Amino acid sequence: MYPLRRNRRLRSSETLRSLVRETIISPNDFLVPLFVVEGKNIKDEIPSMPGYFRYSLDLISSEVKELWSLGLKSVLLFVKVPDNLKDNKGTEALNPNGLMQRAIKTIKDTVPDMLVMTDVALDPYSSYGHDGIVEDGLILNDETVEVLAEMSVSHAQAGANFVAPSDMMDGRILSIREALEDEGYMDTGIMSYSAKYASSFYGPFRDALDSAPGFGDKKTYQMDPANRDEAIRETEMDIDEGADIVMVKPGLCYLDIVREIRNSVEVPVAVYQVSGEYSMLKAAAEKGWLDHDGVMMEQITAIKRAGAHIIASYFAKDVVKLIS
Ligand code: PBG
Repeated sequence: MYPLRRNRRLRSSETLRSLVRETIISPNDFLVPLFVVEGKNIKDEIPSMPGYFRYSLDLISSEVKELWSLGLKSVLLFVKVPDNLKDNKGTEALNPNGLMQRAIKTIKDTVPDMLVMTDVALDPYSSYGHDGIVEDGLILNDETVEVLAEMSVSHAQAGANFVAPSDMMDGRILSIREALEDEGYMDTGIMSYSAKYASSFYGPFRDALDSAPGFGDKKTYQMDPANRDEAIRETEMDIDEGADIVMVKPGLCYLDIVREIRNSVEVPVAVYQVSGEYSMLKAAAEKGWLDHDGVMMEQITAIKRAGAHIIASYFAKDVVKLIS
């Protein structure tokens, strides 16, 4: 009762505030998304993601060395596939010498202890820009799942530690788990994008990979932003099917979902702070309207406070440089 309890007492100095702080950000929290392209000596800034780049394989090596030296020890790989290699079935995704497979090997050769996670979905390989095989304007579920399982095995063969299916097809976690077990990859993990919403925040990412859907949208497979119970259902099913880590995506608009999932499951929870979230802050900071570092730290702290064990973020390097 006031004045016995004066809450401001615990805020009276930075020393005291740091003593009672509940959420601490460290390099261990982060998963760093990386965009890989064909070619040599390419470090190409993504126009809608200022300060973020696509790297060719020769330059990805120095990037992962730098990440490692900053204490950033996990990466999530995405590839930009040349148009002439795209088709409806994502055939190129299974090429043992494809860009993703070579990227995995390059990173593992450069920094063997780096944890390499790979995106598993058809969209960068699809001539339609969809996450699954298209027939008569529909996205086929079970046919897609078969390709995703083969793709996962191919990534495991190349040396990936984790596969990260981001496609939202039903039943894909079980099929991927079974395929990995059948091929002897029992230690290859699955980080499932379990509660992935049909969000307008993915725009800059689709620019980065030139992977925007050629027709329609992704609402028949990604979740309706209006739903919460469904997120729990999706997540629990993925865990039952064998997911080691589950994910909520995007981040900031979905922190209620993050907390609810954190309270209801017992596996690590990842949150993806997506491209649009990054671009919004970069744009506002460029205009001088927001304090970049202050807002960045507040957002990352909010994501962790909401319950994230792991944060996939384009800000990872900025944050770690700031706090070190
Ligand atoms: C594709 C995929 C997307 C993202 C990650 N994997 C885009 C989409 O679903 O259309 C978005 C990531 C971001 O916006 O940063 N399966």
